Amino acid sequence: MTLAVTALHAALKTKHIVKDNYYFDNAATTWPKPEPVYAFMDSFFRSHGVNPGRSGHTLAIEAEQMIVSTRKMLAQFFAFDGDPNRVVFTQNATDSLNMALNGLLQRGDHVIISQLDHNAVLRPINHLQRDGGVDATFLKPDAQGLLDLNVLETSITKKTKAVVINHASNVIGVVQDLKAIASITKKHGVILIVDSAQTAGVLNIDMSWGIDVLTFTGHKGLFGPMGIGGLVVAEGVELSSTRFGGTGVDSISAFQPESYPHRLEAGTVSIPGIAGLHAAQKWFAEKGLLVTSRELDKKDHAICCKAAVEHIHQTEMGHANRIWDHLQQIEKVRLMGERVEGRDYVATLSFSVDDIPATQMAEMLDADYHICVRAGLHCAPEIHNAFGTVADGGAIRIAPGYFTETQDVDHLLDALTQLLQP
Ligand SMILES: Cc1ncc(COP(=O)(O)O)c(C=O)c1O
Repeated sequence: MTLAVTALHAALKTKHIVKDNYYFDNAATTWPKPEPVYAFMDSFFRSHGVNPGRSGHTLAIEAEQMIVSTRKMLAQFFAFDGDPNRVVFTQNATDSLNMALNGLLQRGDHVIISQLDHNAVLRPINHLQRDGGVDATFLKPDAQGLLDLNVLETSITKKTKAVVINHASNVIGVVQDLKAIASITKKHGVILIVDSAQTAGVLNIDMSWGIDVLTFTGHKGLFGPMGIGGLVVAEGVELSSTRFGGTGVDSISAFQPESYPHRLEAGTVSIPGIAGLHAAQKWFAEKGLLVTSRELDKKDHAICCKAAVEHIHQTEMGHANRIWDHLQQIEKVRLMGERVEGRDYVATLSFSVDDIPATQMAEMLDADYHICVRAGLHCAPEIHNAFGTVADGGAIRIAPGYFTETQDVDHLLDALTQLLQP
């Protein structure tokens, strides 16, 4: 940067920066979390930081009850009317996807994924292809980021075991039509695995659409902490165990129990992580009651959360649309994908700048304006390949969240104008 530009930024800094950070990296993890999440994690870990499901004492039983009620809330949250024990806790979406893919696919099977997928899908599939005799088809999205459902359907062969769908892209925010995809997978008797890392908590997801395995992460739209995630496994779908160990039940058995959740949950679960999700679920339900003018049954967790999720999505999209419209007016900005009126997106968008590498742009936003964004390939190299942004070192991703304030967006837009339209 030239001295004159640096001086300009220094002047701006004193004029506009009132916060330590302007956080626009919610696609990586949402931050901050709702206050009750921090409070309950702290209090429950202090009062019940014991090993649940192992010892028969009161504290362990109470800790287990908190876990059971979190499974139930999450089952309702995802409109799952099967056994809540089929809501299985994992470490994160990556863990869930590894468990789903490795627990399902065997030598000779065929799987369909897409260029929209995150490395949490691409890498396990690449390993299964290279080392496990699994064949994979990678679907290409169109210029808007949508998958062609005719191509998806014609890609299904007799050997196709599963289709993995990236519900929303962590790079361009495009949302795939799960209901339409589920009708195709059901018609062909193929298992539908959904990666909801970018949508759980932001868009309503209904297992009854025909989702067989829903994978989720706790630390993004579900407002939990890092280190907790999960799977919802539909009735009739059986994932093989891919890790084995203690469960606190049936210890005499030489093998992993077949019943859920122990079939997939080996070892001690994260009490602080589940407590975080538990408090977040209650926060969603309370938020739903607060933000809707509709008469809601307080006791209906699913209905209350649904209203909250709609409100969260609307709030976030208000910010994202402002940012998109602003960037569209800057000549040297190339936005990835297109926005089509009436179509669903999540509040994540990426762009590159003709004469500034993505990482340098992110560094300037951080150093000069205290704005946190993420530059690079966002662990999704294929979508950058599809949009031709790999050679430039990727793109700059901006992801406002529910706690983003209008003045934060004002600050971001000012910064972008000053950096890109000097
Ligand atoms: C679409 C998508 N899938 C999977 C993941 C992996 O999530 P986690 O890091 O919580 O395992 C992410 C994280 O960014 C993601 O955006």
